[in-house]
Amino acid sequence: MKVTYGGHACFLVENHGTSLIIDPFLTGNPVATIKPESVKVSYVLVTHAHEDHFGDAVAIAKRNDATFISTFEVAQLAASQGVRVHGMHIGGKYAFPFGTVRVTLALHGSGVAGGHACGFVVDLFGQKLYHAGDTGLYSDLKLLNGDLERDIDVALLPIGGNYTMTLDDARVATSWVRPRIVIPMHYNTWPLIAADPQEFKARVESDTAGTEVRILKPGESTEL
Ligand code: NI
Ligand code: MN
Repeated sequence: MKVTYGGHACFLVENHGTSLIIDPFLTGNPVATIKPESVKVSYVLVTHAHEDHFGDAVAIAKRNDATFISTFEVAQLAASQGVRVHGMHIGGKYAFPFGTVRVTLALHGSGVAGGHACGFVVDLFGQKLYHAGDTGLYSDLKLLNGDLERDIDVALLPIGGNYTMTLDDARVATSWVRPRIVIPMHYNTWPLIAADPQEFKARVESDTAGTEVRILKPGESTEL
């Protein structure tokens, strides 16, 4: 599985010829290097409707004739702009042609009336990725290494604080989820969410045995 960081909370994920993008905030993102016009995907997953996540989702979905996946009210917002959507909700899981998507809780606002923010556990041809979305720390994250899911290959966790978990909260989340690899996100896009990913790496790798922290620059890819 190839994972490319778009900057902020945006990730492109590819495995066995299927590509998806999560939270494609590229236009107006001060750290993004990827142009939305260059994105080729079959699915667009959006954790919530704040502009730094919903971003270019509608334009990318339309250009690629891709399916937009989110919680129901956020999906309805995209549908109202002419996009084919697959609405889901917190706790739901569905088998797509590429594998499953489970919608997880995110303690955050949705950006749309009556809606919910979420995270996703995506099983893409047998490799499991967890995108936390924007969330504070909550103890049910332990269920991602136990009763709900297990063996997460890569977790994408916010570390920037203010709107989400802090670096230290994300260190605790990592110890609960116990992914093979964790990639920090949602930091240093603006001064308000400044965080040092090297400090996160040092602290996680000293207290969660078996988890590697990979720091990606916007535009950079890694193979899992
Ligand atoms: Ni948000
Ligand atoms: Mn955000």
